[in-house]
Amino acid sequence: MSSESRARLVCRCRGVASPRLFEAVRAGALASVAEVAKALGAGGGCGLCQPEIEEILAEVAGRPVDPGVTLENEAICREETRAAVERAIARSVQPQLRGVGARIEALAVDGLRVRVRLSHGAGPEAARIVRDALLRDVCADLAVDASDAADA
Ligand code: FES
Repeated sequence: MSSESRARLVCRCRGVASPRLFEAVRAGALASVAEVAKALGAGGGCGLCQPEIEEILAEVAGRPVDPGVTLENEAICREETRAAVERAIARSVQPQLRGVGARIEALAVDGLRVRVRLSHGAGPEAARIVRDALLRDVCADLAVDASDAADA
């Protein structure tokens, strides 16, 4: 299966998701990680996402991709995306939520989808805090669903 159908956060350092990478690689005829890093920033930080960028470049160019490499990239991506979301929650979401008397009770991360269950009675301001912080600090392409436990 093509990894293009699996929308995900590829570069956690620069907040760049796979749909934007596929589009830019095609539109800009980018052929290397260095060209991608120059055009989008992705891959130009810690370098952990570079194998995944290589995979996208290979897919767009029609070169075969080793399924083992795809599985490994998927596992790293899943772990690192959840870690990036948890870091943003610890650094900027929780301090703000404390200010409005709310807290996070559950978190689920699946590709670009993030579901956050807030404490009972948290209200729309708490949901806005979560959404704004994750879109700003992790990736603007995330689909963040933050809801009060009472709404679930
Ligand atoms: S995750 Fe892409 S450079 Fe760090």
